[in-house]
Amino acid sequence: MSDTNPETTPGTAPEPQNAAINPGSTVSLCIMSGKGGVGKTNLALNLGLCLRDMGHKLLLMDCDLGLANLDVLLGLTPEKNLQDLLGGGVEPADVLLHVEDGLDILPAASGVPELVEMDQNQRDALFESLTDLIKGYAFLLLDLGAGISGTVLALARMAQMRVVLVTPEPTSLTDGYAIIKVLNAKFGVRDFCVVVNQATAKEAQDTFQRLNMACKNFLGFELVHLGHIRLDRTLTQAVIAQTPLARFAPECPAIKDIRVLAERISHYREQNLEAISGRKALKEFLPGATARNP
Ligand SMILES: Nc1ncnc2c1ncn2[C@@H]1O[C@H](COP(=O)(O)OP(=O)(O)OP(=O)(O)O)[C@@H](O)[C@H]1O
Ligand SMILES: [Mg+2]
Repeated sequence: MSDTNPETTPGTAPEPQNAAINPGSTVSLCIMSGKGGVGKTNLALNLGLCLRDMGHKLLLMDCDLGLANLDVLLGLTPEKNLQDLLGGGVEPADVLLHVEDGLDILPAASGVPELVEMDQNQRDALFESLTDLIKGYAFLLLDLGAGISGTVLALARMAQMRVVLVTPEPTSLTDGYAIIKVLNAKFGVRDFCVVVNQATAKEAQDTFQRLNMACKNFLGFELVHLGHIRLDRTLTQAVIAQTPLARFAPECPAIKDIRVLAERISHYREQNLEAISGRKALKEFLPGATARNP
């Protein structure tokens, strides 16, 4: 895969590349993990910025409802959040935070336990209210909470692409397998991409093989290895500085790896535009129905 990194300077947003974009066809992609703290929110934010730098317009939604922290990574204090939208009387545009040209976020609330578990009616109402807004983006990225709550499973089921983030630690692997198994058992979902975080290429390959073998042997399907992200202490510094890594250190190893993931995901969107267009980004999605995995 070619390296198409734009020239970047720390702290500044590069001009988006002029990629061929069809904004009418939104691809929804969720980032999930069984185990908490494996790097989902940082991946969602930096993947979003890398896709944005490639010219895609995207919406990043903090779906870690009740324990949100996308805004914290950006050093922002949103006035309104998804909780206000659920409560009614607020328009989606009022909740939207403009981060950079081409990247908006929908922040969630923190410390609000009732948001962790939305029922079906609340989910329907939320996505109904977001339908028109979502249409304007090439990608809808969902940063899910860890674990297998009803909200996590419902959102993961509805997304067109599912990225399971694991680390080489055995606990992360068993929890990653658990979330795949539950989604398969409950909803028949069989298409998952895997990203191995905090790993060398060799560790990532070994980790992926173990997870893939378990799925092949016990669930009867295989996974797609989307890539890996190296362990990179710069990420911790970026979190402390409340500046996304893609802007804090745009040429550090972890961002180079995330850029490769962004290129693969962008390629997937282009390959599957025909299948994707005409389908709502979240509702009406039949798992594995039409689009191919990258
Ligand atoms: N590639 C990496 N290299 C070094 N540290 C990392 C890497 N990825 C994640 N981390 C560390 O893991 C921490 C947790 O990351 P993050 O908040 O993105 O995880 P999460 O999966 O969203 O957590 P939660 O399940 O609580 O939502 C980061 O603050 C950072 O210190
Ligand atoms: Mg998180």
